[in-house]
Formats: sequence, structure tokens, C-alpha cells
Amino acid sequence: MTLQIKPLCEALGAEVTGLDLSKPMAGEEGQAVHEAFLKHHLLCFRSPPLSPADFADVAGKFGTLQPQLLRSQRDGEVPEVSILDSTYVRVEDKPDDMRQMRLTGWHTDDSYLEVPAKATLLQSIEIPKSGGQTSFCNTQAAYEDLSEAEKQRLDGLFAVHRYDTPRAPVPPKARTQAEIDETPEVVHPLVRTNEDTGQKALYFNANRTDRVADVSHAESEEILNLVYDSMTQARYRYDHEWQVGDLLIWDNRCLVHSVNMDFPVGQRRLHQRILLRGDRPV
Ligand code: SIN
Repeated sequence: MTLQIKPLCEALGAEVTGLDLSKPMAGEEGQAVHEAFLKHHLLCFRSPPLSPADFADVAGKFGTLQPQLLRSQRDGEVPEVSILDSTYVRVEDKPDDMRQMRLTGWHTDDSYLEVPAKATLLQSIEIPKSGGQTSFCNTQAAYEDLSEAEKQRLDGLFAVHRYDTPRAPVPPKARTQAEIDETPEVVHPLVRTNEDTGQKALYFNANRTDRVADVSHAESEEILNLVYDSMTQARYRYDHEWQVGDLLIWDNRCLVHSVNMDFPVGQRRLHQRILLRGDRPV
């Protein structure tokens, strides 16, 4: 097998073939995959669905595993693996307006934590026959394309991230008291620098960024709307059409993602997910 890395589209992402994920990833091969991750921000491996333990083994080749906040979604045997079931079981579970589904909001995982996940691995176990794509936007490219005046305005600003914010159209899943205690509001730079590449990217989460610190509400709203509109333009976007077993790893420091929740009721949409420990955003 020869390692091949093929871009998925202009905006971001690459498909990796010729790599046996069950083998150690070292030497030139490991270096090439690492460089591809930093260059393309998202890698797609075609794979059969893995057991949670095998999935955790693969994730360990990319970094340190970090269990997600909500205990209720953790796998019973491998707690670093979360089981994400987004199936509509009953007709009344599916709203007419997709914005009522939180997963449609453009988000970066875990930004409500002081040290958010650097990367996410997501593998599809079952997928609906239509819809259900996961989309990504490149917030590094969006930052680079801002005017100098806009960059100067945003550089140095900080934003408050919370588990929930009135800016999000629907409330998040409930937390236990222990989970509430672990998630006070946190402050992150609005433009963060990737510690591996030195590149800057917009750092914003439509479901969790509450306000820009130290400015009026009106100015905060204007700035957050500017950031949102800049980074969600079609030219920065890639829509992933899932095949069963696809394993994606993406960089939460410079991508946001969103799910097309318009898929048929009763068709299972099931993924397993692992978060990789990051650094405090700077
Ligand atoms: C997520 O946003 O964590 C899940 C994405 C998906 O279900 O495609």
C-alpha cells in the first residue's frame, strides 16, 4: 500500500488512502499524515466501522484522548468514546425548521472549556439514505481574507464562551450538577493562533460564544455577526457525504462544523466520537 493524500475540495480536507490504521504510524508515513492534517485541517479515512476499543487505539496515534463532558453519552466500556445517536425516532422529534436542531449551528467542539479539544475524530456507524451530511468551514482562510482593518479590529479581542448562550436558537442537553460545576464561563481570544503552525484563525462557536468581552452589547453583536458571516461563506466550506465507516479527524482550532439534520425519520444516524486534548487558546 502506498500512502496517498488527495484534497477533497479547495476549501479544506483531504482523503487519505494506503494507510493501515491498525498499524503503528511512525517515521515518514506518520510525518506525512501529521503534515497533511496541519495543511488540510481535516483528513478522511475510509474504514469499516471499528469497535470503540479499536477506535480509541486509532485516536491514540493522533494525540491524547479526552473524555467528553456529558457522561450520559460516554461508551460504557471505553469512556473516551462518545456515542452520538442523532436518529429521529418519532415524527414529532423532527422540527420543520432545522435551526431548532442544535447540531445545525456552526460550532467548534468544547469551546466552553478553558482547554478545548484540539481535534475531533468522528466515525459513522450507521447513516440515513439521504441528508445527514456534516459540513465544515475553514476559519483560518476566512481570517486571512479579512481586510487589514477588520483584522486589526478583531486581533486582541476576547470572547466569553458558555455552555449555553441566548444567541443559540435552542438550549443544549441538560448537565448534571457535577457537569455544571465543571463548566463555568470561559474567555478565549476571538482570533486564535495555532500553536503547531503559527497561523491565525477566527475562533467562534455559534452555539457557545456569548459575547465579546469589554464592549457594549450592540458592538459585541455586530462583531460576532461579522465573524459568523465571514467564516460561513460557501468558498470556505466542505460538505462531507458520509459512507458507513468513514473516519474523519479535524482541527477544531481552525474549522467549525454543522450537521444537515434534514434526513428521514426512522433512519438511523449513529456516530462514535473521540476528542483530543488541546492547549489553552492564545
Ligand atoms: C458533532 O457536532 O459533534 C457531531 C457531528 C455529526 O453528528 O455529524
